[in-house]
Amino acid sequence: MLQTEFISTGMYVPERVVTNHELEGYMDTSDEWIRQRSGIEERHWAAEDEGGSDMAKVATERALEAAGMEADEIDCIVLATISPDHFFPGTGVFLQRKLGVKNIPCLDIRNQCTGFLYGLEVADAFIKVGKYRRVLLVGTEVHSSGITLSTEGRDTAVLFGDGAGVAILGPTEDQDRGVLAVRTHADGRHAEKLWAPAPACIKKPFVTTEMIDEGLTRPHMDGRDVFKHAITKMPAALYEVLELAGCSLEDLAMVIPHQANLRISQAVAKGLGLADDKMYSNIQRYGNTTAASIPLALHECVSEGRIQRGDLVGFTAFGSGFTWGGAVVRW
Ligand code: COA
Repeated sequence: MLQTEFISTGMYVPERVVTNHELEGYMDTSDEWIRQRSGIEERHWAAEDEGGSDMAKVATERALEAAGMEADEIDCIVLATISPDHFFPGTGVFLQRKLGVKNIPCLDIRNQCTGFLYGLEVADAFIKVGKYRRVLLVGTEVHSSGITLSTEGRDTAVLFGDGAGVAILGPTEDQDRGVLAVRTHADGRHAEKLWAPAPACIKKPFVTTEMIDEGLTRPHMDGRDVFKHAITKMPAALYEVLELAGCSLEDLAMVIPHQANLRISQAVAKGLGLADDKMYSNIQRYGNTTAASIPLALHECVSEGRIQRGDLVGFTAFGSGFTWGGAVVRW
C-alpha cells in the first residue's frame, strides 16, 4: 500500500500590499474594526491581468526548484480555486500551458475554503492506487477583482486577499509518513449563507448589468452563521482525522487551519485546548485567501522550520457550501 507524501511546497503573493488604512479610502470602515473583528492588518492584491494561473506558476516553479524537479515530471494537476481566470475552461489548463507541460490531466476543484483539502483527498487517492506519481496540488485565488470597493461591499471586501500556494505530492512506501488521514464534508442546506448569486447559468441570460448593479456578483455572507458553524465543524473535522489516523491532539506539532478569521482560529484553539504557538496564523498579512490559505501557511511553516520532518501536522478548514474537512500528515 502506498502513502502520499509532501515532496515540496511553494507560494507566491502579489507585490501590491493593501493596508486596512488604504481600504478606509474606498469605504466606510476602519483599521480598528477590521483588526478587532478579523485580525487582518493587510492583504495582497494581484496586478491588472495577473490571474490565479500566473500566481500558481511562480509558486510551482519555487516548489519544483525545492524538489529538484522539472515541470515535465508532474503527471497530474489538481487545482482548487473559487476565482478562476475565466468562466471556462478551468484554471488548471492555463497553469499547465504556462508551465509548458503537455498531455497531463488538469482537474479543477470548486470547494471554496475547503478546496485544498478536497484536492488533497483526491490527490491522495490518485497516488495511493498508483495512478499518478507526481501530483501538483494548487490553491490559488484572485479575490481583488470580485470584491466591491464601497460601503455596500465592506462586510466581505475587507476580509479577502490574493495569493497562491502549492504542494508537490508523491508516493512513499513508509506507512507512517505522509497523509495519514484526510476527510471532507459538505452540507448544501447552507449554500446561500456564503455565496456569489451571479453569474448564474440557472438564469437566462446568466449575467446582466442589473445583476451587477444589484451587487449579485459579489460575495454575500451571513457572517455570524458562518462563524458559528466554523467554530464547531473545524475542531470536529480535526478530531475525526486524528481518530482515523490513530493519533491524539497531543501528538500534533502544529495545526494549520484555513485562515478565515483570527477570531475563528482563536476560538477553535481555545475549544481544543491548544496552545497559541501550535495554531498557525498568517491571516494578519494575507487576509482570507480561500483555497490558497492552507498551502500558504504550510509553506511558511516549512520554510521557517516550524514544521520538521517527522512532525505530525493537523489541517482543518471550513467554508462556503458549507464544506469542511481535516487532514493529518506526518511530515
Ligand atoms: N467596516 C466597518 N463596519 C462594518 C464592516 C466593515 N468592513 N462590515 C460590516 N460592518 C458593520 C455592520 O454593518 C454592522 O453594523 P450595524 O451593527 O450598524 O448593523 C456591524 O459592523 C457589526 O456587524 P456584525 O456582522 O455584527 O459583525 P461581527 O462581529 O459578526 O463580525 C465578521 C463580522 C464578518 C467579521 C464575522 O461575522 C466573521 O468573521 N464571520 C465569519 C466570516 C468568515 O470567516 N468568512 C469566510 C468564510 S470561511
